[in-house]
Amino acid sequence: MMELRCVFDNVCQGLQKLSNTATLFLDWSGTGTFGRVVLVREAPKEYRALKVMAITQVIKLKQVEHIKNEKEILADISHPFIVNMTWSHKDNTFLYMLMEYVPGGELFSYLRNMGRFNNSASNFYASEIVCALDYLHLRNYVYRDLKPENLLLDREGHLKITDFGFAKKVLDRTWTLCGTPEYLAPEIILSKGHNKAVDWWSLGVLIFEMLVGYPPFYADNPFGIYEKILAGKVEWPKHIDLVAKDLIKKLLVQDRTRRLGNMKNGAEDIKRHKWFKGVDWDTVPARKLQPPIVPKVLHDGDTSNFESYEEGDWRKTPPAAPKELEMFADF
Ligand SMILES: Nc1ncnc2c1ncn2[C@@H]1O[C@H](COP(=O)(O)OP(=O)(O)O)[C@@H](O)[C@H]1O
Ligand SMILES: [Mg+2]
Repeated sequence: MMELRCVFDNVCQGLQKLSNTATLFLDWSGTGTFGRVVLVREAPKEYRALKVMAITQVIKLKQVEHIKNEKEILADISHPFIVNMTWSHKDNTFLYMLMEYVPGGELFSYLRNMGRFNNSASNFYASEIVCALDYLHLRNYVYRDLKPENLLLDREGHLKITDFGFAKKVLDRTWTLCGTPEYLAPEIILSKGHNKAVDWWSLGVLIFEMLVGYPPFYADNPFGIYEKILAGKVEWPKHIDLVAKDLIKKLLVQDRTRRLGNMKNGAEDIKRHKWFKGVDWDTVPARKLQPPIVPKVLHDGDTSNFESYEEGDWRKTPPAAPKELEMFADF
């Protein structure tokens, strides 16, 4: 407890001068403007990532339940390929989640720089994701935001999934439209009610994007993307591995009752697919697979693998009103 208080004091006093002390901006929030992730230092050499969200913005953008889910789920889980949250807090203005700092940067940056990944690199990342999704689904958590921006590389090059902003405990079905257009399963677009099967759909999208360099359903506006997803037509480049193509096709099945991963054998059907033939699943969580990319990390607090963002005037964020704070009584 002492230690945590200490971190908090540092952070709070530091919030005013985050950018010119030990802390550094990593990111503005991808979608909205209600949050950001910053690098903070807990002890002289212990770096952490702190996700800071403005309460007034969270409410305005109707993300109250999502943020509460994010914190509760992160507090409940522990997995080698999922970012570990060590502490959370709130004051009158912000919500805070302190996580391990994953210094290798986003898989997104590597994919854009390299154009596309080869078959074995894609297989490596897919294997670690299958493990993590299987773990979450066994606990009835649906992740709902699989995409290269939310996949980070640790120092050795293993994956860490971050951003549980759309994760949710789902026993039957849920209805909220959320996620990223290119990665949405048809049943989300059609508001039919959805479940963990949406994560296996987005795994299909991700494997395609890793192997090809762009997602399978692509347009310059969300509506165009939705039309293509619902039409279900994918153009396959000639170079794509045929075994991978077979797996992707079985994941991108419109009818979720026939989608691989969502039938009676669950994730086992995916693990037994021949694209994963060489994978010894028992050793994957022990980080035994050989990472295809080892990030250049010079020291624990190195942020050079992340893009830096404009600071903006977020320090002027107003405190929330008592009524608004009440909405976060259980945070
Ligand atoms: N634990 C972490 N270590 C390092 N960087 C992180 C960490 N968590 C998030 N980030 C960076 O911050 C970005 C935004 O965080 P994320 O949780 O995805 O927020 P948002 O909900 O705004 O997308 C991520 O895409 C990643 O670049
Ligand atoms: Mg994100």
